[in-house]
Amino acid sequence: MTDAPLGTYADTWRRSIDSPEDFWMEAAQGLEWTTPPRAALEQRSETDWTWFPGGRLNTSYNALDRHVIAGRGAQTALIYDSAMTGTRISLTYLELLGRVAKFAGALRANGVGTGDRVIIYLPMIPEAVIAMLACARIGAIHSVVFGGFAANELAVRIDDARPSVIVTASGGLEPGRAVEYLPLVQKALALSAGSVHTVLVRNRESIPGSAADYADESVSWLDWADEEDNAAPADPVSMASEDPLYILYTSGTTGNPKGIVRDNGGHAVALAWSMRNIYNISPGDVYWAASDVGWVVGHSYIVYAPLLAGATSIIYEGKPIGTPDAGAFWRVIEDYKVKVLFTAPTAVRAIRRVDPDLAELARYDVTSLTSLFLAGERLDPETFHWANDGLHCPVVDHWWQTETGWAICANPLGIEALETRPGSATVPVPGYEIDILDSKGHKVKRVGKDGNIAIRLPLPPGTLLGIWGSAERFQSAYLSAFPGYYATGDSGHFDDDGYLYIMGRTDDVINVAGHRLSTGSLEEVLTLHPAVAECAVLGVRDALKGQRAAGFVTLKAGATINHDTLARELVALVRENVGPVAAFRDVTILDRLPKTRSGKILRKTIRQIVDGEPYTVPPTIEDPTVLDDLIHAVTASAHKASAETARTKTAVTTAPQH
Ligand code: COA
Ligand code: AMP
Repeated sequence: MTDAPLGTYADTWRRSIDSPEDFWMEAAQGLEWTTPPRAALEQRSETDWTWFPGGRLNTSYNALDRHVIAGRGAQTALIYDSAMTGTRISLTYLELLGRVAKFAGALRANGVGTGDRVIIYLPMIPEAVIAMLACARIGAIHSVVFGGFAANELAVRIDDARPSVIVTASGGLEPGRAVEYLPLVQKALALSAGSVHTVLVRNRESIPGSAADYADESVSWLDWADEEDNAAPADPVSMASEDPLYILYTSGTTGNPKGIVRDNGGHAVALAWSMRNIYNISPGDVYWAASDVGWVVGHSYIVYAPLLAGATSIIYEGKPIGTPDAGAFWRVIEDYKVKVLFTAPTAVRAIRRVDPDLAELARYDVTSLTSLFLAGERLDPETFHWANDGLHCPVVDHWWQTETGWAICANPLGIEALETRPGSATVPVPGYEIDILDSKGHKVKRVGKDGNIAIRLPLPPGTLLGIWGSAERFQSAYLSAFPGYYATGDSGHFDDDGYLYIMGRTDDVINVAGHRLSTGSLEEVLTLHPAVAECAVLGVRDALKGQRAAGFVTLKAGATINHDTLARELVALVRENVGPVAAFRDVTILDRLPKTRSGKILRKTIRQIVDGEPYTVPPTIEDPTVLDDLIHAVTASAHKASAETARTKTAVTTAPQH
């Protein structure tokens, strides 16, 4: 990368790269270790390293007990605000510690020990935070599964993590409907191989279903409240720095999600450091990540980082719009004097679409807000300008991944507020050394030219320890493409001043409303339909969600199914197998898919046509007339979609029959 003279930030970044041992050892002093680490970094080989070897600590102790012991037990740790039910609950550090210790005791009473896995399938209620910290307290490894996934996805995660216990609730609330979790858990248990012996159920008044309804011979279904009430509080267990804290599954290029493993020591150090230096948050400040605990943003910035930093965190059950209106976020900021808000660009685009003049904002006092951080997907310059002008506080686009657990590039407001540049995620965060590489792994010499974004090894603390159950997959998925580097799977470029621009993925991962999905896994589901011969799923441009998944299918010879029926069945199949979160609604039925003479589907060309971008007909194309059919179908789709109401939300298009 270019060595731009960026003042204090530049000095800090340089020190983190030249003297990582001193840099991170200093950062580690902010935490309480039961055994201090003998070094910050132990590097055994280029691809094998440990942060804080010999160090022992407990993450839940550092997030809770440490602050209570320091005299801040009466400070608010967690605010639960449900726009869905109107409930508001505040828990002080002392109260949260009490509930976490008791629930940790309940887990232990149900046979959960150090190193055991616990799946947490909970909506946005305080119990999600309590369950995660309770696992951390007793050294159990949690794996949170997002509520918008179907039973099948839950089953895949159960089979991979092999948990003994599942912690869940009667359900979650989406606008206009309750999502009952217990039938989904039951189905997932039936589909999976049988490691689970206990399901702990949190009852929610508004949603039917309780543990008592699910008595089962092989699995004990127990009531959370009874178990918590009857449990003896558990003390924190001292964990080795590199012991796993959690597994979080994310989409890869295949249908099998990758279980990203996070450690205890490096994670706690990096997250605490990030709160001060990236977000400029001090103990007592109110920090709100409007995400979901099922995603990495929720893990890092609803649960762990704010509490490690002694701040107040908000768990918000609701949407940016419609619960009840586009002023929902501003109301929360006013009510709790939020200093920093972190959300996804989609949320901002949703507010803008409904309230372009920010009329709702005028109803609230949001002067407590000092910055808005956005991540999870590309922040388009239009949305950046709209938010920046309307909110009168810095809007920071920052870039990171489930794998890294915290920002790779950001404007580090706690170190130095750099100039923001629309379209750029600003500069590499201290600890990350980034190069742009060509396909052969050579550094791209020309500034401004896109290439593969790669991070030099070793990765800084807080990043992934590996992939659960497969050391080999970590190497092959991330470390072997460019020796000496971690391949991010993103492409982009630096400008002359060292600002990084993220331009897109280099693989089949797409990003829908900040949710990462694998087109490969969607294709696997479409091919389950007996009438489908071939298919391709692509991420096409979407004005609200950044991208959406669009499916292109051909029928098996002799299949006579009505095209509208097929489209509806395919949409239902994805919802059933992957979940509503895939938001899969676009199906185009073609006679043939555009392919090269060697049989490769021309995905890029299809995407360019759908997105209305200029394209050139590839010289290797098998039959150029197939593109005419595609264009015809896409044009018909555009007309049909605009004519269709949101009633079915399904767009089906059909190529001319020959
Ligand atoms: N449990 C069950 N279902 C869920 C769910 C959950 N936790 N979260 C979403 N869903 C469902 C929705 O109800 C919707 O179902 P539907 O097809 O029956 O309407 C579907 O999944 C798609 O949800 P979503 O992508 O949220 O779209 P939406 O049209 O309901 O809402 C926005 C649009 C913009 C309001 C919404 O996408 C949003 O708030 N985005 C912010 C992005 C964000 O926070 N990303 C997190 C990463 S930082
Ligand atoms: P996830 O692991 O779900 O957080 O998704 C990570 C991916 O989201 C990254 O690899 C990027 O492709 C994309 N992403 C995250 N943040 C940004 C950003 N600020 N700008 C552009 N893309 C982003």
